[in-house]
Amino acid sequence: MTVAIITGSAGLIGSEASKFFAGQGMDVVGIDNDMRRVFFGDDASTTWNRQRLEKELGGKYTHCEIDIRDQEAISQLFQKYGKDISLIIHTAAQPSHDWAARDPQMDFSVNANGTLNLLEATRQHAIEAPFIFTSTNKVYGDTPNRLPLIEKETRWEIDPNHTYVGGIREDMSIDQTTHSLFGASKVAADVLVQEYGRYFDMKTACFRGGCLTGPNHSGTQLHGFLAYLMKCAATGKSYTVFGYKGKQVRDNIHSADLINIFYEFYKAPRVAEVYNAGGGRHSNCSMLEAIQMCEEITGNKMNYTYSETNRVGDHIWWISDNGRFQEHYPNWKMKYNVRQILEEIYGFNKERWAKEAA
Ligand SMILES: NC(=O)c1ccc[n+]([C@@H]2O[C@H](COP(=O)([O-])OP(=O)(O)OC[C@H]3O[C@@H](n4cnc5c(N)ncnc54)[C@H](O)[C@@H]3O)[C@@H](O)[C@H]2O)c1
Repeated sequence: MTVAIITGSAGLIGSEASKFFAGQGMDVVGIDNDMRRVFFGDDASTTWNRQRLEKELGGKYTHCEIDIRDQEAISQLFQKYGKDISLIIHTAAQPSHDWAARDPQMDFSVNANGTLNLLEATRQHAIEAPFIFTSTNKVYGDTPNRLPLIEKETRWEIDPNHTYVGGIREDMSIDQTTHSLFGASKVAADVLVQEYGRYFDMKTACFRGGCLTGPNHSGTQLHGFLAYLMKCAATGKSYTVFGYKGKQVRDNIHSADLINIFYEFYKAPRVAEVYNAGGGRHSNCSMLEAIQMCEEITGNKMNYTYSETNRVGDHIWWISDNGRFQEHYPNWKMKYNVRQILEEIYGFNKERWAKEAA
């Protein structure tokens, strides 16, 4: 028996990873307690995705409704599968920087303490298994906002002579910056994942994501920007753009491209690694550009308003440089760009959204 333990298995990345690794013949043990619903309300519940997984994967998927903060339950689960565990993918999180300020203790306990519980259970029961952690570009705080940016017609762009013109590398400092409370709890987890690698020679890696996206995202105003934007375009719901003239740039990586990153790491794991993982130059857009694409794809005019106040810690321009990962794993290639992602999100969800709106 070869077991993959996947936390946040009903979420965007966790569900995609569950399907992929079950497809590789592994027995997937998914941990998810639908806490996304607690954070963002009924609209954001991931139960629909959990049910879909159970139906599609049948006996290859076992769901555990455990809270990753429950140290005892996590430890028992790892003890149960022991040396059969050959991979851990940890995606469960409070994922929104806006939400974190509402309840910093809850945010920190899920993101930091929850990660510690999983690392320790791995160390005790499955020390050989690669441990993949979905970190975030918010660990760099708002330092990217100090880059020399130039205003273009539809977006901000970096000075073409700057060293990060191809994207931001892992050598950007994570200090002296506003992380947001979410960024702080993810930094704690990110550094713990690295230290477990260094101290105990465990095969740990942090993947610092830009925007992670795909058709399985339960998009909501506070998290899952492309999925939520497309939902608003499709249903006529109003959308608010926060600050920076709507020209803020994000890179967007399709969950399938990210899972392939995980797969490459799983096949040839390294110790205590840190990688930026985003859409990079291949897949990025500004808010205004994304709105235009949504309008073209749905044929609807978007109903959006503009608020002068930007979100705390929000990036004006973020494009990842995936070069470090690419250098270590030259077989990995990115497939999707933003337009393809948006078309897929629309095609996959339009009927469900129409039913919800009816
Ligand atoms: N989506 C993005 O744009 C993005 C960007 C950078 C990093 N990340 C990180 O990637 C990871 C996955 O993101 P996602 O978009 O798939 O998130 P998601 O919210 O879709 O999925 C996370 C899942 O974890 C579950 N969960 C939350 N707290 C839990 C707990 N205490 N116990 C058990 N389950 C719990 C939720 O119910 C949810 O189903 C997160 O760690 C997030 O911080 C996401």
